[in-house]
Amino acid sequence: MLAPCAGLLDDPDHVLAHLELLLQRQSIHAAPDQRARSGAADAAGVRHPPLRTRRRPVWLVALCLWVTALAGFAPAAAAEQNGLSARPPMGWNDWYAAYCGVNAQLIEQTAQTIVSNGMKAAGYQYVNIDDCWMAPSRDSAGNLVADPTRFPDGIKPVADYVHNLGLKLGIYEDAGTTTCAHLPGSYGHEAQDAATFASWGVDYLKYDRCSIPFGDFPGQSEQQVQQTLNTRMSNALKATGRPIVFSICNPDPGDDPWRWGAPIANLWRTTPDIEDNFGSMLVNFEGTVNLFSDAGPGAWNDPDMLQIGNGGSTRPEYRTEFSLWAEMAAPLIASTNLAALSPQALAIYENAGVIAVDQDPLGKQGVPISSQGGRWVLSKELSGGDRAVVLFNSTDTAATIATRAIAVGLRAARAYRLEDLWSNSVSESRGPISAFVPAHSVVMYRVAAIDRRRARALAPHIVLSLAAAVPQLFSGRSTIVRETLSDDGLAPVKRVKLTFRVGLGWRIKRLGRARVKRLAAGQRYTVAFRVTAPVSGPPSELGGLSGGASWDPLDGWRATAAFLGERVLAPVPPPYQTADITRQPAAFAARDGAFAISARGTGVLQPWNAPPTGSYAAIYERQRAGASSTAQVTVSYDAAGGSAGGAGLIERDAMTAPAGSPAGVVLFVNGAGTVVMSWNATGGRDVDSRFAVPGVVAGPVTLRLVRSGSSYTGYYSTNGGVTWAPVDTVTVAAGASAGNQDVGVFHASGLPTWTTTATFRDFSVR
Ligand code: GLA
Repeated sequence: MLAPCAGLLDDPDHVLAHLELLLQRQSIHAAPDQRARSGAADAAGVRHPPLRTRRRPVWLVALCLWVTALAGFAPAAAAEQNGLSARPPMGWNDWYAAYCGVNAQLIEQTAQTIVSNGMKAAGYQYVNIDDCWMAPSRDSAGNLVADPTRFPDGIKPVADYVHNLGLKLGIYEDAGTTTCAHLPGSYGHEAQDAATFASWGVDYLKYDRCSIPFGDFPGQSEQQVQQTLNTRMSNALKATGRPIVFSICNPDPGDDPWRWGAPIANLWRTTPDIEDNFGSMLVNFEGTVNLFSDAGPGAWNDPDMLQIGNGGSTRPEYRTEFSLWAEMAAPLIASTNLAALSPQALAIYENAGVIAVDQDPLGKQGVPISSQGGRWVLSKELSGGDRAVVLFNSTDTAATIATRAIAVGLRAARAYRLEDLWSNSVSESRGPISAFVPAHSVVMYRVAAIDRRRARALAPHIVLSLAAAVPQLFSGRSTIVRETLSDDGLAPVKRVKLTFRVGLGWRIKRLGRARVKRLAAGQRYTVAFRVTAPVSGPPSELGGLSGGASWDPLDGWRATAAFLGERVLAPVPPPYQTADITRQPAAFAARDGAFAISARGTGVLQPWNAPPTGSYAAIYERQRAGASSTAQVTVSYDAAGGSAGGAGLIERDAMTAPAGSPAGVVLFVNGAGTVVMSWNATGGRDVDSRFAVPGVVAGPVTLRLVRSGSSYTGYYSTNGGVTWAPVDTVTVAAGASAGNQDVGVFHASGLPTWTTTATFRDFSVR
């Protein structure tokens, strides 16, 4: 990377001219003060003279080399010319906290909270109002008006309030005729609305795409129309003279705003509205992670807001979300009720080391180095030469994820300093960068190349990991688990002791020595254990296998622990059969009249049996449902997944029949907690659905499917069958279902990339 500058060292003026060119080309890439010197307009719209071109001292030549190396001579993306968002915006948005319940009080109280809870000091700046802030119609002059109940004094006093706290105010509009909540859109009013926002003191506009009149633009593709309308607003905002960050929201398939957003917007949504669950987070991560070359200072990929604190994910999952967003240089916009935030969630939002990765002045989005089997290695280049390395385990089983310093782009060095940004521990490594990462979790390191002398002051990087020969076991069966301690550092460790524990009902036999006197630098020690799964318990259970290790490095005794979840399954007995038409092997279990299914699968709302658009796993009885029969089961499924997924009853002429097969009916709880009945009315590939009202159920639900020939009635009960609510009565394809049908329970996670588990009890067919 230094090569382009190397030949210029004897000619400082040449170097300097190059530096100036670089700074001008990348005016948006530079910090505000640098930008001012480059001749670009600053945030207040003031133009500054360009750098003078007299001979510069050698230190400046060195600076050139450094800047040149950082920039790598990559052509700067043509970033939005408003000079804003040199770093990804940080702030808050009300949408996932309040939806249409937004009002002035919420905005002002949240602004206060951002100051008092430390988020402002941590870098959160924007307080953004989303949809539903406005009155249903414009005034007689065509101006937007705030909803008189939600914002009785209008938006300006709210902006003043927020500004007085040293924060900035954001607002929401739509490029079409209405917003997503059917309030007036900016179409045809762009200049007027931009002027209104500027007059109110708005600092940030989120611009949606819910009702764009594509018909007004004959001959233009939808993408072109979105580009035209967003450009109109971009120009209108600039024309106001007020610095207003422009955040566009075009996340529908084919919109691809990363291809056209950079010259007109500071950030663009890459992916659908995020939900508060791991599966949705994963979809938005995967939809953004490969767009790294489209992002840069002033122009960011936006995988949507942070759900941390909303309660639908575990603490490690929220840490994962925060780490991945920071690694992708994504906007950090919290969307939760900050007044009710737990200290644990707040600590995630305020992790200074992770925020520094997101806000790094170089403004590079992290790059995926590998992702095999859902085990990701990401590397983000940071200013000064460090790398932020995320080891992300998107699978359901803890796993060792390993890379090397050179592979993530660090320079060759004797040693590397690994700072764990969540545990805050610091260690030295001779090159390997690895960790035993729990399911759905990350380990995030800031890595720097160091010399041997600095390495000596640090403890060697030690990794304890567990690996089972098979990820799941039938009850009473055995497998081998290997426990390994690796010394990745430059110094040996002494008096190594490995321990291993199993949960209730397990049996264990150690197959090697548990103690070693000395583990040399770069070596590992493995001890194997034979474990036998319990013979009783629930049909499917995540058994706890945990390893521990202690050792003695030069600076005193240390210990660590690792946990491996091993699924134990009771085999499904006859007369029940299993059907798996997901792409990944599903796990089935049955004991004492209870069933469990762990599966991926996109669900049954799409064409039956056509992976990857429709796939599920079932435990069923062949031809057990007669023309006049009732099937019933109680389902526990609260692992929110894609809403196409779910768990419940299924009846089909043939459970594993191919696409386009005759009639079938399912009655289930979906990933969003709604009871749904879906059926195939035609015998073709289409499935109809009825969503039960009221929507969301929590806890076990009892489902009942009553068949009478080709007519089916679905019911559900949330009190164990004391009272029943009907869902619908439907008729399936004529001619089908004259005789007996296969009947059973099914589960699909709703997403092809991750597994959830549903449990069922008291399944009966009468
Ligand atoms: C769309 C956007 C969301 C939110 C809502 C408001 O769905 O993608 O982020 O702004 O509109 O109606």
